[in-house]
Amino acid sequence: MTKIETNLTVDPAYEAVAPDDFPAMMDVERYGKRSNAFDKIISATHDHFWDPMDKKYVDFSQPFDMENEYLVDPNQNTDLKTAVADKLDEKQKIKLVNLDVQWSLSSILHGEAGALALSASLCHILKDPGAQEYAANQTREEARHVAGFTNYIKARWGKPVRVGPALGNILTELVLSPLVWKKIVGMQMLVEGLAMGAFATFYKDGRDPLMVKLMQLTMTDEAFHHKFGKIWADRTIPHINEDERNQIEDWAWHVFEVLLYNLGSPEQKKHIYAAVGLDWEWVQGAFMEALTDVKIRESMQESTNIFRVLIKTLLKAGIITSRTAGNYAAFIDMKELYAEGDRMIGDDIAEEGIKYLLQLNGQGNRAYSLDKMSAAE
Ligand SMILES: [Fe+2]
Ligand SMILES: [Fe+2]
Repeated sequence: MTKIETNLTVDPAYEAVAPDDFPAMMDVERYGKRSNAFDKIISATHDHFWDPMDKKYVDFSQPFDMENEYLVDPNQNTDLKTAVADKLDEKQKIKLVNLDVQWSLSSILHGEAGALALSASLCHILKDPGAQEYAANQTREEARHVAGFTNYIKARWGKPVRVGPALGNILTELVLSPLVWKKIVGMQMLVEGLAMGAFATFYKDGRDPLMVKLMQLTMTDEAFHHKFGKIWADRTIPHINEDERNQIEDWAWHVFEVLLYNLGSPEQKKHIYAAVGLDWEWVQGAFMEALTDVKIRESMQESTNIFRVLIKTLLKAGIITSRTAGNYAAFIDMKELYAEGDRMIGDDIAEEGIKYLLQLNGQGNRAYSLDKMSAAE
């Protein structure tokens, strides 16, 4: 098995050059070779315009009682399903849950910074002018997510926490990789898929109206980013050889494990436990013990809905097959996923948000459907 060191270009819309080969961009033949694959998602960009610096869209001065109120439904917190709960009083529980939200939103902010740099890097390597225009639009949208999450974190905690090593390393690898397939599978499908699941969960379980609003506005953009990855997969995966496909499948599982570790491991969140007087190694033990209890395990699986969009995306794209489906079955009911259509959990929330934005932006009151957006022809 030779390692894939190429872009795996099957469809000319994803043809790429080395990041430093700008002369190739001035080839006179290139300009006219524009695919129509992205026209729909490009022209939809102003349907979901919003500005995180404008109070008309979102007002970051809305207060929240951080000491006495949970930012999210505490029943969804995994720590509190373990022996950790017995060690803490109500105020400490609130502190733990809210610091956990800070950790998650900081991870999302670093992910947004990664998505911004990655989309910009796609502009440097993709040759198709339509693909470049799409990537430039996404770059601009990721920049407003960076601004939006920065504003929210500033309003609630002052500043974000440092990126965990697991997430930091994977984001760096994706941004710096010259390979189109790695960028798209890693960022557009895995990181964006996980983010979409996280946004949907915060939207549903959030108790801070400001946070809920920020989630919905962000999702109106993210639903399209997810479609860009889907278009690539539909046009690439069925046409590559088995060895290449297997390598992509194995690499996707590797990235999933890294993201999971960042999210769930007590070691990555030492500072949170220290803040409520707990030792992270003791917490790790409490987790291990909780996992042996079937009831607790089931309720944890319920709250890992966050992985649903991501696993479903990979499955529908042909990146998860029977080779690795068993690995993911610990997190999600795979049989149920096989039977489902293409619609994603976040799509309803995004569509509602777009309807709201169309009105706010003076573009009228009309129904909106994301379903046709990934069809090029
Ligand atoms: Fe984003
Ligand atoms: Fe995105």
